[in-house]
Amino acid sequence: MKEELVVRRIADGTVIDHIPAGRALRVLRLLGITGERDGIVALVMNVPSSKLGRKDIVKVEGRELSKEEVDKISLIAPTATINIIRNYEVVEKRKVELPSRVIGILRCMNPNCVTNVPRESVKPKFALLSRDPLRMVCEYCGEYLTEEEIIEQLSGV
Ligand code: CTP
Ligand code: ZN
Repeated sequence: MKEELVVRRIADGTVIDHIPAGRALRVLRLLGITGERDGIVALVMNVPSSKLGRKDIVKVEGRELSKEEVDKISLIAPTATINIIRNYEVVEKRKVELPSRVIGILRCMNPNCVTNVPRESVKPKFALLSRDPLRMVCEYCGEYLTEEEIIEQLSGV
């Protein structure tokens, strides 16, 4: 069954497609979308997908995403596709890409790391160490961040 039959098309905004099943709520949370003052937000979970088996989809009307938001999405939904919709047409489609470096988005788990010393105000910088499982390394102290820690930091409750 085509997904359009479940949730209608949107006029303008962003469709985040091919999200790993079960991650849609985390994507909404990292975008700060609560539904309290935004436009139409559609959430589709566990739809069949030829590529992923099952996938989630998030549709956000009236909003396009910043580079930082797309980078964050890539860290919790590396298979996602970002579709920009204008006047009901898909005008841009791109796969998210895991950044090789992340500056200022994640924090180091090592309490003694220079990035955790308030007076130093050093921005955390991480380099991508492994994609699957996702693992990043602090450029200052060498501490690893695991996939679970990254997901928790970006979309934890
Ligand atoms: N979509 C939407 N509203 C529109 C246009 C598209 O909600 N006005 C949604 C579609 O339902 C789909 C996604 O945006 O979930 C991408 O649309 P499209 O490229 O037409 O679909 P596919 O070809 O199936 O995408 P892909 O090849 O990336 O799987
Ligand atoms: Zn560190």
